[in-house]
Amino acid sequence: MFNQENIIIGLSGSKKLVDLIAKNLGTKQAQTTISHFADGETLVRVDESIRGKHVFLVQSTSKPVNENVMELLIAIDSIKRASAKKITVICPYYGYARQDRKSIGREPITAKLVANLIEKVGVDNICIIEPHSNQIQGFFDIPVDIVSMLKLIMDEIKKDNNLKNTIIVSPDYGCVKKVKKLSLDYNIPMVILNKYRPKPNVAEITNILGEDVKNKNCLIIDDMIDTGGTIIAACKALKEKGCNNIIVGATHGILSNDAENKLNLACKNKLINHLYISNTINTIYDKKINKLKIVDISKQLAKIIKVYTNPINGSISKICYSKK
Ligand code: R5P
Repeated sequence: MFNQENIIIGLSGSKKLVDLIAKNLGTKQAQTTISHFADGETLVRVDESIRGKHVFLVQSTSKPVNENVMELLIAIDSIKRASAKKITVICPYYGYARQDRKSIGREPITAKLVANLIEKVGVDNICIIEPHSNQIQGFFDIPVDIVSMLKLIMDEIKKDNNLKNTIIVSPDYGCVKKVKKLSLDYNIPMVILNKYRPKPNVAEITNILGEDVKNKNCLIIDDMIDTGGTIIAACKALKEKGCNNIIVGATHGILSNDAENKLNLACKNKLINHLYISNTINTIYDKKINKLKIVDISKQLAKIIKVYTNPINGSISKICYSKK
């Protein structure tokens, strides 16, 4: 039960999504005042008493990433100082996650740095939706729940499309595990694309590993679309090998730079036939992409929050990872 002992707050990166979650919970999000000093410093204050309450703080640390990370930290600090009983952070999109190891010397590990900051400021537990890599949970010493929304996206795709003559595609090695699981759960054969980046933000596909995609429909699944380079390169490589229609599913629509235009053009040129992206990042609602269907994750998040309020409400892994 979500009752007066619990409170849900959406910060700037997740206001819209939290309205939907709150609706599913049969409540309203608590109002906060977020203001800035002349020099840019952020001030966050919850407009009602939160003493003794379990506070659910929802924030996607998406663009503007630094601003949203700092806003989250400052919000946690103010909530802690207001004597909340417990703070659970729900992070629909965890920014800085891609820097999760040193790939060459003298690089930072920002995924760990952000984890340290969130933990240090005083959070009790955190739920992260589709982080770039699941090992991020080891960067925290508090309970972390990693949740995938790919099953929800797959179910939406399956509802709209006949997947009989389809091959599921991992656009790079990073996504293999997740796509493999979907391939097994939905009984769809799989291919892996050999992607490399000659320079940052440029993606090239050198070859396709696995089944022949000729005359098959392809379903590309990725955790995120940022500049759109990976997806476009993947579509081109699959088309060159003679595939038919292409459906794309992704959890996070970061859509930086001219990704919106690129994807629109790809839809117009029938490189992409259908595109499914979830609403982990608010700005997805501002994008005008032909063939885009937004998959709403608020119902799942409401269920997850209910489990946090009382474990009698089920198990988080069952909500999002259930085998077919
Ligand atoms: C890479 O490891 C990720 O899973 C995505 O494929 C990548 O971040 C997407 O970026 P972009 O859209 O800029 O190619």
